[in-house]
Amino acid sequence: MKIFIDTADVKEIKRLNSIGIIDGITTNPSLIAKEGRNFEQVVKEITSIVNGPISAEAISLDAEGMITEAKKLSKIHKNIVVKIPMTSEGIKAVRVLEKEGIKCNVTLVFSVTQALLAAKAGASFVSPFVGRIDDIGKKGMDVVKDIIETYKNYDFKTEIIVASVRNLEHVKEAGLLGADIATIPPQIIDEMFKHELTDKGIKKFLEDWDKVKSK
Ligand code: G3P
Repeated sequence: MKIFIDTADVKEIKRLNSIGIIDGITTNPSLIAKEGRNFEQVVKEITSIVNGPISAEAISLDAEGMITEAKKLSKIHKNIVVKIPMTSEGIKAVRVLEKEGIKCNVTLVFSVTQALLAAKAGASFVSPFVGRIDDIGKKGMDVVKDIIETYKNYDFKTEIIVASVRNLEHVKEAGLLGADIATIPPQIIDEMFKHELTDKGIKKFLEDWDKVKSK
């Protein structure tokens, strides 16, 4: 499973990327706004750190506007993937952009039927928001499971990004289901490393080592 970081925090991206397990980045307007910096500057900086797909979102609501924005964004770097919201205008834009070689990530996806349309339009990526589906009392990971099955039926090449990841259980289930990618906030990536028995084990090894090191 590829791991993307779901953040626009350049410091966090540098820190986690240096470990060597990061395959890409996703941002959205809320994450960019949190940084309080110029959008294009942040995106450009991210492309200089991580060598993999970097999602940057278009904010227009009409296909024409999205296409214009996408073309501008794609000029920033060859790794830019344009995030397009799941609407009929969005799908129209995705069809045009993918034909022109601009990769799209259809975002704000909450159902299998939406994911089916994204794949039919030729989207490179689709982002089901599992946490937000959980928020409305349904199981986000069930939607991911159904998308995987549907895509297999037709051999769609669209990669599934499990997004709106809120906990380790989401990451574990993404792996068990064989999702292509999980885009994970930095603090949850940090949690992935941890286990109380690892800490306890290290402590014990060091204590035992202390007893023999002077002999
Ligand atoms: O990747 C999508 C993500 O940024 C949304 O997460 O927690 O706001 O639902 P959240």
